[in-house]
Amino acid sequence: MPNVAVVGSQWGDEGKGKIVDWLSSRADVVVRFQGGHNAGHTLVIDGVIYKLHLLPSGIVRKGKLSIIGNGVVIDPWALMKEIEDVRAKGVEISPANLMVADNASLILPVHGAVDRALEAARGKGQIGTTGRGIGPAYEDKTARRGIRVCDLMHPELLREKVDRLLVHHNALLKGLGAETFGTEQVYDSLMQINGNLLQYAGPVWKRLDEARQKGERVLFEGAQGIMLDVDHGTYPFVTSSNTVAAQAATGAGVGPRSVGYVLGITKAYTTRVGSGPFPSEQNNDVGETLGRIGHEFGTTTGRKRRCGWFDAALVRQTVKISGIDGIALTKLDVLDEFAEIKICTGYKLGDQDIDYLPASQTHQAQVTPVYESFEGWRQSTRGARSWAELPAAAIKYVRRVEELIGAPVALLSTSPERDDTILVRDPFYGT
Ligand code: GDP
Ligand code: IMO
Ligand code: MG
Repeated sequence: MPNVAVVGSQWGDEGKGKIVDWLSSRADVVVRFQGGHNAGHTLVIDGVIYKLHLLPSGIVRKGKLSIIGNGVVIDPWALMKEIEDVRAKGVEISPANLMVADNASLILPVHGAVDRALEAARGKGQIGTTGRGIGPAYEDKTARRGIRVCDLMHPELLREKVDRLLVHHNALLKGLGAETFGTEQVYDSLMQINGNLLQYAGPVWKRLDEARQKGERVLFEGAQGIMLDVDHGTYPFVTSSNTVAAQAATGAGVGPRSVGYVLGITKAYTTRVGSGPFPSEQNNDVGETLGRIGHEFGTTTGRKRRCGWFDAALVRQTVKISGIDGIALTKLDVLDEFAEIKICTGYKLGDQDIDYLPASQTHQAQVTPVYESFEGWRQSTRGARSWAELPAAAIKYVRRVEELIGAPVALLSTSPERDDTILVRDPFYGT
């Protein structure tokens, strides 16, 4: 199967955008299959920075079809604004290169309001969501009261659906002391945007079946990371979708065998935005230095990311859960200055040694990391484009990462720039 699925193997922001952009030269179609505009994927091409939230990272390459699949929750206003912003950088976007699944669910302003009101009510137990309405929109989808792209074609049914949805959310908003929404106001704003969105809408599953028949190569672009998966992540400090590679099939409308090679994007250290357990977090100079050199500020919310050492136990777990065939190791250059570099290889829970992160929230908060220490290379790897340019100590670190996580490095990234990438084994061609 000539397809590739890209997923984040940690807590998001591993550099998926950069790698999807790099790989998209080999693909015909790029598909987002879950998440929404909580994602922030950064591409740097000849110094020009693109920050993409809903648009697949293939959009910047001419001649590629970008698809937003049914598994994505779409805020139509955010999408239209993003299309305008990216167009302003000279990228052509039209129904010729962008398709949106007609059965995808919508995020409405009420979802954002509920998301933020619930977070405020959680007090100290905040999840630290992006406040974009992702959770409430997925809840509506599962509860069967959601509004989908195709509903915009039918004004009467749409008004009924809006009304039903608001009965539910207004009761909650009222209880939380927040402002409620009126049916006419929500309906009118949807009717204003419907033509803009509907021009891109269609049966994505059908287009992907054509791709399969024609032998076109499809690149599935995951958002967030596997530790934020609603089933397999650090629940309840997770997002509201499945972020694992298996979701590429359901979230796009293809069979499981079409997912192809699973590439886990893996940062050479660890970061996390928002609350929740983070065993190898460094609340000290090391964390500050990683954040400063790695520019660890959220692409979507601008929040400072929490930083820590590479957690091999965690990635070993996500490699298995998501069926990762190989990784793209990113931001190795951020470790260049460190005299000592550590890798978390497992945990202690009381006096017990464990080699995985247990499911229990209480245990996740109690585990302490067990580290292996490495001598740093203290030499620049930034911008390296071949193995030969890497210092021996850096290669030793990479080899140990591969050994500990049980997956090989297929790609290695040494700066934000598209071409500062080392290809070890091609995920599309296997060479
Ligand atoms: P994503 O959400 O997984 O697409 O990742 P983000 O774009 O949110 O965050 C990754 C950040 O690291 C972006 O600012 C990238 O430009 C940057 N980046 C990606 N790869 C590298 C790399 O190899 N080295 C450095 N220094 N920065 C990188
Ligand atoms: P990309 O695709 C990092 C985190 C939020 C919060 C939790 C739930 O750029 O890697 P949500 O708004 O989804 O309900 O928030 O998930 N989160 C991310 N963290 N990268 C992301 O996306 C994220 N998307 C959501 O910070 O902790
Ligand atoms: Mg990001």
